[in-house]
Amino acid sequence: MKKHRLALFVSGTGSNALNIATYFSQHHSIEIGLFVTNNAASPAIQVFQRMDIPCEIMDNTQAADGNFLIDLCSAHTIDHIVLAGYLRLIPSSFIHVFNSRIFNIHPALLPNFGGKGMYGSRVHAAVLEAGEVESGITIHLVNEHFDEGRTLAQFHCSVDQNDTIETLRVKVQQLEHAHYPVVIEQTLNLENHV
Ligand code: GAR
Repeated sequence: MKKHRLALFVSGTGSNALNIATYFSQHHSIEIGLFVTNNAASPAIQVFQRMDIPCEIMDNTQAADGNFLIDLCSAHTIDHIVLAGYLRLIPSSFIHVFNSRIFNIHPALLPNFGGKGMYGSRVHAAVLEAGEVESGITIHLVNEHFDEGRTLAQFHCSVDQNDTIETLRVKVQQLEHAHYPVVIEQTLNLENHV
């Protein structure tokens, strides 16, 4: 059976991308075919290079160029895209080609605390500021708007009175690492059976 080949897109430290790459490293039907980042300082680059996974460092002009991304992914025979802390808007021509095949993770329970400018610690700060008693993660498909595509799964955690941005970030990251690879795997398995 031909393996699914994923491209991982990252703007930050890449802990989710590394967790996903580890999860699928010996997988029978899913492999990582490409690591893409618009952050030349991402510490994940060296780790992916050591894993012999092709790495592409692009600037923000290339990140906004749908044809650049289409050509890049087609050169590496990629069939699905995984955004893991990737902060640039995905060009619509790229979404059109990879229709329903781009995953994203958001560190809150969408539709709340999402949209342009809501990423990373800013999300946790807004959740605490709003006095929420729970937060969590949303794994969803990507469309032309930040954080608005079809939800695949949500997982919850409590927000306690003494939580800080950092303690909430750790709780949410634990959910991300536990669930993101599994939801990707389940979604690809379902696709194989339609
Ligand atoms: C993750 O918490 C992810 O949910 C978030 O960025 C972090 C990246 O962490 N994404 C967004 O906020 C997207 N709106 P990582 O670089 O350690 O994987």
